Amino acid sequence: MTADRVESPGHVVIVGASVGGSRLAAGLRKAGHTGGITLVDPDPDAPYDRPPLSKQILAGDWDAGRASLGDPAQWDAARRVAAAAELDAAGRTLCLDDGTRLGYDRLVLACGAAPRPLPGMPRRGVHTLRTLADCHGLRADLDRVGGTGHGRLVVVGGGFIGAEVASTARARGIGVTVVEALPAPLSALLGEEVAAELALLHADNGVRLLTGTSVASLVGEPSVTGVALTDGRVLPADAVVVGIGVRPNTGWLAGSGIPLHADGGVLCDAYGAADAARTVYALGDVARWRDPLLGRHVRVEHWTSAVEQAEAVARSITGARPAPYRNEFFVWSDQYGGKITLLGRPGPDDEVTVVRAGGERRRFAVAYRNGARLAAVLTVNWPKALVAARRSLAARGGADDVVAAWKDL
Ligand code: NAI
Repeated sequence: MTADRVESPGHVVIVGASVGGSRLAAGLRKAGHTGGITLVDPDPDAPYDRPPLSKQILAGDWDAGRASLGDPAQWDAARRVAAAAELDAAGRTLCLDDGTRLGYDRLVLACGAAPRPLPGMPRRGVHTLRTLADCHGLRADLDRVGGTGHGRLVVVGGGFIGAEVASTARARGIGVTVVEALPAPLSALLGEEVAAELALLHADNGVRLLTGTSVASLVGEPSVTGVALTDGRVLPADAVVVGIGVRPNTGWLAGSGIPLHADGGVLCDAYGAADAARTVYALGDVARWRDPLLGRHVRVEHWTSAVEQAEAVARSITGARPAPYRNEFFVWSDQYGGKITLLGRPGPDDEVTVVRAGGERRRFAVAYRNGARLAAVLTVNWPKALVAARRSLAARGGADDVVAAWKDL
């Protein structure tokens, strides 16, 4: 217990029982919160971890139980299977879609984001992937498609979901085409040169990648039979996965007085608070925290960020002073039996240095440099390069030190 401790703030209601919400419940108890905790989420399967949904569970290697984050009772938390429908911030009352009204002393919005649909959805055979139920539905379709021996899966969007699903489906022997609107998947994040190199992983593994094109319409009724592209081509499809990004779940907050950003997300200060009184916080995919170093509000849609923000909010709620948030920005993605990691945020004007490892596999590391400063590191199938970069950064090394360390590996 620290000298900063204040009285436990009574009842904390957490909207969203995914990794951010459940880590917060755990963090509050760890920090000594003795008041009530209620986790609200309409997903009957929550809380569970999402990373295995596009990989191990989709592949059939894990059963769903392995992704479970356990029973909320472990944090002495109540669980309501319902959606938040309306917020009366002045009256500190949350209304649920089952008619329940929950009073709170602190409210934490960890309600995530929902996949963007394509026009023509829902349609049989067309999937998004966000929930465990989505994963089971897609897996059943991959079983059906894979069973034919010549199944064709079209994946729309070559981002994280698209690449991981393509990899999982390919490992099951399914023919996969990925359709990506940008010149290369992730080129907005990684820059075109690096993204083009990364995209070769798809071809290496027998996946067809079509870039610079998008979907004009879905074909087939009631089940999908194809995808018509904006460049005029029509791709036959036995199933379609749509991974074209997400929208923060903030529609229900309209008119509540909680500040929302025009591009989506709850506007928060550098500690995750959304109001001056520090009664309402937000974290994870739904939250846009002020980044003091960048001088603007940033929304990050990755697991590590949700976990770090949950730890910071738990400390802020239970402490006398708000807890600062150390945003490392780290993303990993498992594809084609290997691992891609991104540490830090590449800037549009960063120079890149690529170091390639030997061996048959495509393995390389990229240093994004802004002058002598190392802005970000990407590693592809080269875990030792990430370890070396972290070690060098911990020793206050610059971009040249990291590149030299890679050359010595
Ligand atoms: P994303 O934002 O990662 O990728 C969406 C991709 O779709 C982009 O490359 C975009 O250019 C493309 N796109 C958008 N509209 C399109 C269109 N009409 N036609 C063709 N391409 C189009 O979003 P994604 O993959 O849907 O993932 C959803 C969320 O889940 C993201 O927040 C992502 O970060 C997260 N996620 C993270 C993973 C990880 O960290 N390993 C794994 C899986 C998902």
